[in-house]
Amino acid sequence: MSGSGARYILQPAAQVGGELAVPGDKSISHRALMLGGIASGRTEIHGFLPSEDCRATLAALRAMGLAVEEHSATVLTVHGAGPGGLAAPAQALDMGNSGTALRLFMGLLAAQPFDVTLTGDASLRQRPMERVAQPLRAMGAAIDTEDGRPPVRIHGGRPLTAIDYALPMPSAQVKSAILLAGLYASGVTRVTEPAPTRDHTERMLDGFGVRVERAGASASVAGGQRLTGTRIDVPADISSAAFFLVAGCLAAREGLVLRNVGVNPTRTGVIDILRLMGADIRVENARESGGEPSADLVVRASALRGIRIPEALVPLAIDEFPALFIAAAAAEGRTELRGAAELRVKETDRLAVMAEGLGRLGVRHELLPDGIRIDGGPLSGGTVDSHGDHRIAMAFAVASLRARGPLEILDVANVATSFPDFVPLARAAGLAIS
Ligand code: S3P
Repeated sequence: MSGSGARYILQPAAQVGGELAVPGDKSISHRALMLGGIASGRTEIHGFLPSEDCRATLAALRAMGLAVEEHSATVLTVHGAGPGGLAAPAQALDMGNSGTALRLFMGLLAAQPFDVTLTGDASLRQRPMERVAQPLRAMGAAIDTEDGRPPVRIHGGRPLTAIDYALPMPSAQVKSAILLAGLYASGVTRVTEPAPTRDHTERMLDGFGVRVERAGASASVAGGQRLTGTRIDVPADISSAAFFLVAGCLAAREGLVLRNVGVNPTRTGVIDILRLMGADIRVENARESGGEPSADLVVRASALRGIRIPEALVPLAIDEFPALFIAAAAAEGRTELRGAAELRVKETDRLAVMAEGLGRLGVRHELLPDGIRIDGGPLSGGTVDSHGDHRIAMAFAVASLRARGPLEILDVANVATSFPDFVPLARAAGLAIS
């Protein structure tokens, strides 16, 4: 919804603190709906993220005939349709702003007996889809994109054959789409990734009773396996918690507690990077449910210093860089990020849009083709345009903790795609946001 009139106004605030329960994990919520949809029997989802992105997945499944009961915003029962139980939708499926929904559905729908078109908003219609379409075509799927972008047209009824695919870029969405198609392919489908990415699909398939073989950088699935409905407890989203982790580093003199946050090791790069910068973050009450680890995170204000971010951590913190750039702006010295060209094909070109906003606040930086250098220092007040990118809007809200004057953040409606209650939670933590 780029260009929407919604905006945030923030006054500089001195301190944050308290205890927060951030909402459920977006990646896990999408997958719980999709896998529950093709499972046999009922799947109960607790802690579902009721955001626009996940609701786009829900609406698409309903448009294909799936019965889903909503007991509350966060507790759902999916009445699984079984592997071949989805039906042709009456019209194109609109994924809104959600790349995860569109790409995972490409894999899931490549093997169905009907044709389907997947599309999205202006941002999603600019994002690359050939990275998914190409391996699916190699499996036998018939898929058209428009110059590599949505709308994506899938011609159903093609038998799929397993492939052994080396991903050219680290991408959990591409990996997941191939594994989902692999459930319907003859033979054993194997994907090998150049660096570890989030493994929620592999873990959740296991919870639905599917054997996923994991060896080194590869995951394999034999086609024809059936999923059995299960219960899924969704932990809080570390990507949403990240804004409060950074806020806590800047201003939680008495500490800030984030409850039951997902700490799957393929997602915790943000904690590792902040600790390298000198953050005081403790991981407490570690537990596991449904194959996903979670814990309470306790963060306390500390002096941050600039670092060179290890490239191996980039895929493990891929959605957290907007927040991390604010930490870098508030740190002493220079932070350098390289090997992060993927940030240019997210909801926006996050390197360029963050650089523009940092510039507006007087932060010295140098934009690089695959990263950025940021020199920590004082932040002025001013107006920043998020260009409709939810994570950039929230990151600059956190910057108000160090700004010397009021901040205005434009085009923030898409915060609802991942974090519908961001404003009340930010206010509860101590940000002066309206
Ligand atoms: C996601 C994977 C990542 C991430 C996105 C969610 C997922 O995308 O940025 O927000 O749920 O699989 P890529 O696979 O494109 O890196």
